[in-house]
Amino acid sequence: MIHIHYITKCVQHFVKAKHWRGFGIHSPYVYHLQRHVISTDKLNDKELRQRVRKYRKELLKNKNRIPLNDLGTGKAKDGVVAKIVRRAAVDEKSGMLLSRLAADYKPDMVIEFGTSLGVGTAYLALGSGVNVEVLSIEGSPECSKVAESTLVKHGIENVKLITGAFDDVLPNILEAIKGKQVMVYLDGNHTYEATMRYLTKLISVADHNMRVVLDDIHLHSGMSKAWKEICQMKEVTTTIDLMRMGIVVLRSGAQKEQYILRW
Ligand SMILES: C[S@@+](CC[C@H](N)C(=O)[O-])C[C@H]1O[C@@H](n2cnc3c(N)ncnc32)[C@H](O)[C@@H]1O
Repeated sequence: MIHIHYITKCVQHFVKAKHWRGFGIHSPYVYHLQRHVISTDKLNDKELRQRVRKYRKELLKNKNRIPLNDLGTGKAKDGVVAKIVRRAAVDEKSGMLLSRLAADYKPDMVIEFGTSLGVGTAYLALGSGVNVEVLSIEGSPECSKVAESTLVKHGIENVKLITGAFDDVLPNILEAIKGKQVMVYLDGNHTYEATMRYLTKLISVADHNMRVVLDDIHLHSGMSKAWKEICQMKEVTTTIDLMRMGIVVLRSGAQKEQYILRW
């Protein structure tokens, strides 16, 4: 169900968002991101787009019913694979942006919270390149299994899937990312408390260097509140509100800057 809050935010974003293709942005860093990563199609080759289309198509043909236990919504039920993809997977526009953000950032490691069936994982893994490991966490074991077999079938090998609750897995993740340049995609458990908890912990080990993409930043008032507070955090230097997604950057020595960009 779409909240009134979300519709209001969409209208506000339409009015406030600026700098299509980077015009008028003073910050060289944000200009680069907007011009060459966000509102462009470059950096992405056609092959990547086609590979993920094939991946998605295969899942859309899968009418098997699998048990689902979404630790974010707390709902335990069955779901047809095709319907889960339609409902939960990142769309192509956002997925291509994820792959461009990864390609541009050149991380040592990528962490995805919320694998579902691995569509977002595929964009991140292909965008990062074969030498970068993508750790993707999913609480629903059946989703993980389908994601794993589909990733293997499509030759996407630089992924390690972890099945478990985000909170349980987080301590090991924090150990694994210490001292590394990490890109994080947070796409599960969209509540104010959980978002703030994960982000605070990630930032505590980030050493002033991290790029985080948050999905659904204005899904409801709790997420908008989380986004507002994240923008104010002293460790966070650059924030970019794209309405559907938010980009959070930690860069040592950089000045604080907040943008709402047309995309
Ligand atoms: C929106 S879907 C992810 C979509 C995926 N990133 C993609 O683009 O295809 C969110 C996923 O996060 C998982 N999830 C939510 N809360 C979780 C938690 N606390 N621990 C582990 N997994 C969780 C759900 O089971 C669900 O599959």
